[in-house]
Formats: sequence, structure tokens, C-alpha cells
Amino acid sequence: KKEKTLGMIKPDAVSKMGSILDLIYASGMKITKLKMCHLNRNEAFEFYQEHQGKPFLDNLLSYITSGPVIAFELMGEGTVGRWRELLGPTDSAVARKENPTSIRARFGKDKTMNACHGSDGVATAARELEFFFPSVGPSRKNTAK
Ligand code: CMP
Repeated sequence: KKEKTLGMIKPDAVSKMGSILDLIYASGMKITKLKMCHLNRNEAFEFYQEHQGKPFLDNLLSYITSGPVIAFELMGEGTVGRWRELLGPTDSAVARKENPTSIRARFGKDKTMNACHGSDGVATAARELEFFFPSVGPSRKNTAK
């Protein structure tokens, strides 16, 4: 089934974006939207709302706001699962053992600095895409006469 998902290159891996985008193109997935932005703490908290109360949330927020990120929309057959497969396990150290060619194995450091994010399901993808690429609002108004 054709799906959309949200991918994000995290601050530690922004300098590797060329290699990461090459891997995405080689996989056959299509990048249909993309932007770089630097999240503030409130925005990061909204993005990671499902991790409220987790012991690692504070570290995660500090890390994700430490520099710019690159967010993108991917489209294609089974893209939610295919992007997560390309990412590999959350912990980059585990990824290096279990899936050495994955993005987190190649470009991540540990559990927190793991190079990239991917939505964990179709519903999460819709919310996360709306967060980075809102479908309504002033920036979407057509002011042409
Ligand atoms: P991500 O795919 O962006 O989703 C949530 C993030 O929280 C995850 O990648 C990691 O960066 C971070 N994370 C998840 N579990 C842990 C953990 N046990 N310790 C530290 N960070 C974690």
C-alpha cells in the first residue's frame, strides 16, 4: 500500500545528509517534501509528546534542539516500514551488531544520538508530517489575485 512517512536527520548526522539522501534514493523511496529547521524546546516537546514521562526525554530534547535537523516526507509502497528497516535498531551500538549496513549503524553513535528518526506507524506519520509540513495556516494561503 502506498504510504507517507516522516523522516528526520538529527543534529549529529546533518553533515552526513548527502550519504543519507543517496541511500534513500537507492532504496527507491521518493522524497516529496524536505526542509531544514532548528527546533526550540517547546517544539521538540510537542514532536516527542509520546515520550512524556520517559527517563530519557530530557536528554532527547537537549540533543534534538542542539542544532538544525532536516525533516522530509517519504512516499511509496510500505514506506513506514521500509524507512524503519533502512534505519535499523534505535541504539546505534545494537544496529552495528544486528544490521551493520543500516543508517544508524553507519552514522549514529548511541541510543540518543542515533542519526535519524522515522515515524513508527501510519497514524504517527500523519501527525509528524503535519508538525513539520502543516497543511493549513498563513504560509499555505494563496494570496495571488
Ligand atoms: P527516535 O526514533 O527519534 O524516537 C525517540 C528517540 O528517543 C529515539 O529515536 C532515541 O533517540 C531516543 N531514545 C529512545 N530510547 C532511548 C533510551 N532508552 N535511552 C536514550 N534515548 C532513547
